[in-house]
This record gives sequence, C-alpha cells and structure tokens, in this order.
Amino acid sequence: MNRRLRISRGSHPPVTAIYPGSFDPLTNGHLDLIRRSSGMFDKLVVAVLNNESKQPLFSVAERQDMLRDAMSGMPNVEVGTFSGLLVHYAKERGARVILRGIRAISDYEFELQMTHMNRRLEPGIETVFLMANEAYSFVSSRLVKEVFRLGGDVTGLVPPQVEQRLRQRIRGEGL
Ligand code: PNS
Repeated sequence: MNRRLRISRGSHPPVTAIYPGSFDPLTNGHLDLIRRSSGMFDKLVVAVLNNESKQPLFSVAERQDMLRDAMSGMPNVEVGTFSGLLVHYAKERGARVILRGIRAISDYEFELQMTHMNRRLEPGIETVFLMANEAYSFVSSRLVKEVFRLGGDVTGLVPPQVEQRLRQRIRGEGL
C-alpha cells in the first residue's frame, strides 16, 4: 500500500504540479523534495529556468540531463524548461500547483513575495511548500559550487553523477 500523502485522488481531475528552479546544479535537497512530492501529485514537472543572464555553470541541457539521470524510476516526473514567467509555463503545462521547498526562515521572505506575485498574476494556481529535509537544510547549489571550487568535499550533498560533472567542469578531470 502506498502510505504517502496524495493530494490528488479519486474522481477529481488529475493534479499536475510544477517544481521550478535553477538547478545549477541539482542537489540532494532538490532530489529529496522531488521524491517526496512525486507521490503526492498525479504528475510533477521539474522545470529548469532558462536564464542566461544568471551565467549558469551548466547549460539547460546539462541540468536537464542531470535531473533525468537522478529521476529514473519516478514515472510520473518529467523534466521541462522554461523562460519568461513561471505562471505562463505552468498554465501551458496544465499545472494547478507550484511546488517550492523551504530550508530556513531566510528562504521564507522571498518565497512569500513570489507566491503573492504569482497569485496576482494567476489566481488559479496555488503555491505549495514542503520543508526541506533537515539533513539538507544548509545545502544550496551556490554553496556546493563554491565549496567544490575551493577544493572541499561535496560527497553526499549532490547525486554522484552531479559530482562527476562538477569534477569535469570545474577541475577539468576525466575530459
Ligand atoms: O532555484 P531558484 O533560483 O530559487 O528558482 C527561482 C525561480 C526559477 C522559481 C524564479 O526565479 C522564477 O520563477 N523565475 C521565472 C520568472 C518569473 O516568473 N518571475 C516572477 C516570479 S514572482
């Protein structure tokens, strides 16, 4: 029996949720959230922001590959990409829920602003939050990159294939 909470069930229309982010790169915190939420919705679209002005370490295609690698075995999870407004993409994908994770109170203020703005833009879409797993509450893509660049060990904070790509991209290993 699936003992996980399901937000969508029974005769209601299927619920698609969008989990948007930069994912530059994917961390185990993101992955934990994807695992936990995949059981709650009929479909989960993990949406990679395509924003070249942020000067990402990995291209959108690389970020999508890393997500797909890590998510094999989760049949109701898809990887997508978007530019422009998130709510436009959510509507295009038929999503009624935006999913975000909160690690600490410091995340809350920005998330609150985004939630209100997104609701103003598209009142039919609800933002749902999950608290990040405490084991990853200090993990961010930005810190992972910084620690790795400076020679620190990020094992256990990102999936192995992400660590491998960091080694190639930052230290030029295995090229
Ligand atoms: O992983 P991040 O960088 O915290 O994700 C931020 C993201 C992608 C959710 C946010 O920047 C976003 O939604 N960008 C798309 C542009 C948009 O819709 N802006 C208005 C949001 S209120």
